[in-house]
Amino acid sequence: MDPNHIRNFAIIAHIDHGKSTLSDRLLELTGSLTSREMQAQVLDAMDLERERGITIKAHTVRMMYKAEDGQTYQLNLIDTPGHVDFSYEVSRSLASCEGALLVVDASQGVEAQTLANAYLAISHGLEIIPIINKIDLPSADIERTKEMIEKSVGLPASDAIPVSAKTGQNVEQILEAVVHLLPPPKGDPEAPLQALIFDSWFDPYRGVIVLARVVSGTLRKGMKIKVMSNGKVFDIESMGVMTPKPVELTELSAGEVGFFVATIKNVADTKVGDTITDAERPCAEPLPGFEDIKSMVFAGLYTVDSHEHALLRDALEKLRLNDSSFTFEPESSVALGFGFRCGFLGLLHLEIIQERLEREYNLDLITTAPGVRYKITLTDGKVVEVDNPSRWPDPSEIEQIEEPVITAKILTNEEYVGGILKLVEDKRGRQQNFEYVSETRVMLTYELPLNEIVLDFYDRLKSVSRGYASLDYHLAGTWVSPMVKMDILVSGEPVDALSIIVHRDFAYERGKALVSKMRELIPRQMFEVAIQAAIGSKIVARETVTAMRKNVIAKCYGGDISRKRKLLEKQKEGKKRMKRIGKVDIPQEAFLAVLKVG
Ligand code: GTP
Repeated sequence: MDPNHIRNFAIIAHIDHGKSTLSDRLLELTGSLTSREMQAQVLDAMDLERERGITIKAHTVRMMYKAEDGQTYQLNLIDTPGHVDFSYEVSRSLASCEGALLVVDASQGVEAQTLANAYLAISHGLEIIPIINKIDLPSADIERTKEMIEKSVGLPASDAIPVSAKTGQNVEQILEAVVHLLPPPKGDPEAPLQALIFDSWFDPYRGVIVLARVVSGTLRKGMKIKVMSNGKVFDIESMGVMTPKPVELTELSAGEVGFFVATIKNVADTKVGDTITDAERPCAEPLPGFEDIKSMVFAGLYTVDSHEHALLRDALEKLRLNDSSFTFEPESSVALGFGFRCGFLGLLHLEIIQERLEREYNLDLITTAPGVRYKITLTDGKVVEVDNPSRWPDPSEIEQIEEPVITAKILTNEEYVGGILKLVEDKRGRQQNFEYVSETRVMLTYELPLNEIVLDFYDRLKSVSRGYASLDYHLAGTWVSPMVKMDILVSGEPVDALSIIVHRDFAYERGKALVSKMRELIPRQMFEVAIQAAIGSKIVARETVTAMRKNVIAKCYGGDISRKRKLLEKQKEGKKRMKRIGKVDIPQEAFLAVLKVG
């Protein structure tokens, strides 16, 4: 197709501002879906995405649109996730677009990720059309939202399009704006092939599927392609676009985006950010790629039933085929047996992987407290990276510890600033900036240790701001901090899977809160159970779970059989997620108690 009739664009927004709903409306308007096929939020394909209402993977859809000028345009829409854990996917999607729709909820206004995503789009040189969504809501304030877009994002908002993705009001104006305001792609279809991989995954029926943007040249069915980073050559077997149903094509030319399937067996051979070229007529240079994605949050995953360990490994291997952003390696714990140390982009990512393992692979899992990766310089000069408390070096051998630090931008209303300042100070934050972005909205910029964020920061932020605060962050560097390892002893025995890394000045308080939470979570046993927190050989806190006097059933009076059954069932249910350590049954929640005491 003539590149002048192509528009590639992404939709960017803060979470829940309506990207997916708007995408659905655009598909409907361009007739990409008949109403029978129209199912709410078709782009959120995975069940889990639909249930949680979040978009996990970026998707791309081709729509054909007959504009008011009588010409037909090919519009390639690339949907992006909104959650901060997945911002690297936003960046990838933007690299394959010339323009973006910046969707802002008219009842909420500009939020932290509106800003972060808008800046990303600006830095990629994209043309941006502001869209003010949810104007059907009584609390919508179009003028105020425009003002915030101008003041805080710095984009002219007089042409912002007010729409309701829910009712469809004004949505057709967006299509006209895409055609007239966004630039067409450049690139010569006759030049040597240069295509950028912006996603790839393993499909059990079709093998490796690659999403690519052809930057110059033409990608053809049957072509021998070369992956530029590793020199490997593959034959293109089939290719096409999603409309959103897959439609097979025989070529994709400069400016177009689409998928292809080649003789690729391993997703690792088609790394996101890599350039694909024609093996017979290669281009001179690869395209600028993406930075490698790094895991930020680490936790141990174990099966409750140790016989299921091999199943967990298989499941992790399968999931990894589609998600190169999480890592895993075998680890073993005295308390929990054989398991895996896994690395994630953030806490939401951890939850999603855990839920998929349980749901799709039917595994009962124990997850240990999430933590971060420390860089430790030893007294002999060696430097080690440690993300597992059980590998923490002996304190006498530690010279210096560096912990990862983030820059966090928090947008909130004036009245919540006090509570938030207290929270970030409690979390060892250091203020960088305090700025009014409108009369009542404040943007706080803080440096914070990532270790403090992975615990309960989101939940606490939500509660002190009653939900009126949004957060965006990126890795900023490291601080040298006096971190210590805190062990938890149950009945006098250290349970390695319960150990955590804390700041020395907070250790005493944390230890006290932790054992007291554990006391609530560990059910009473037939005997007394001591729970202690210790740093080295020094006990910093202690609580006791008193012994059960009689067994539970003995408490119900004889005749009430249904109550009895209920109790037994409840016990059984509880057992499922217990791990017996020594003589004590410890429930899953106890392993995550540290998340609840921040
Ligand atoms: P993520 O994919 O999780 O980033 O969210 P999203 O930005 O795609 O938001 P989504 O489309 O899932 O919409 C979030 C919520 O807002 C849903 O409950 C939608 O029904 C609702 N919503 C979206 N657009 C409108 C609108 O124009 N008006 C009203 N009243 N509600 C809307």
